[in-house]
Amino acid sequence: MSEKLLVRKIRDGTVIDHIPAGSALDVLKVLGVTGKEGFRISIVMNTDSMKLGKKDIIKIEGRELNLEEVNIIALIAPTATINIIRGYRVVKKEKVEIPDYIEDIVKCANPNCVTNLEKGLKTRFKVVSRRPLLLKCLYCDRYTTLEDIYRQFIRREPAK
Ligand code: CTP
Ligand code: ZN
Repeated sequence: MSEKLLVRKIRDGTVIDHIPAGSALDVLKVLGVTGKEGFRISIVMNTDSMKLGKKDIIKIEGRELNLEEVNIIALIAPTATINIIRGYRVVKKEKVEIPDYIEDIVKCANPNCVTNLEKGLKTRFKVVSRRPLLLKCLYCDRYTTLEDIYRQFIRREPAK
């Protein structure tokens, strides 16, 4: 209810809802959204939620997130819901889900991995565990953790 008073409905774009409270800025960092792109973005943090107690919401107008980006959100905001909005209506609603494989975006934690040495080579990981998160590099077999992902994108450790 209070959210309705804070931020109005959008016409076209993406609403990322049910983000764990306090994580909205981390989600934007992982998405690579800086605000300089020119899209109108509304961020509501620590608002009341029936399901979560408190939650964050991000509304990005004029941009629809693609599947690859949604997968990345799942790594750091597992409760998030992605709503695609067209003409003021929710045309697609998806709960984020950590996929079996992650491609690109996340870097391998092994500095000597070929994906870190060769420009233009996309990373590929198998998700071997979701809790705790453990990604196995398909090139070097080394593991990348949630802590590594936080260090890569957010430059600090995840909250426990
Ligand atoms: N929303 C929006 N602009 C629209 C339509 C929806 O900003 N034109 C937002 C709503 O404020 C809400 C989210 O998108 O944060 C999902 O909308 P909706 O499915 O209508 O809300 P709920 O039914 O409460 O969603 P859920 O069941 O996922 O909690
Ligand atoms: Zn590797």
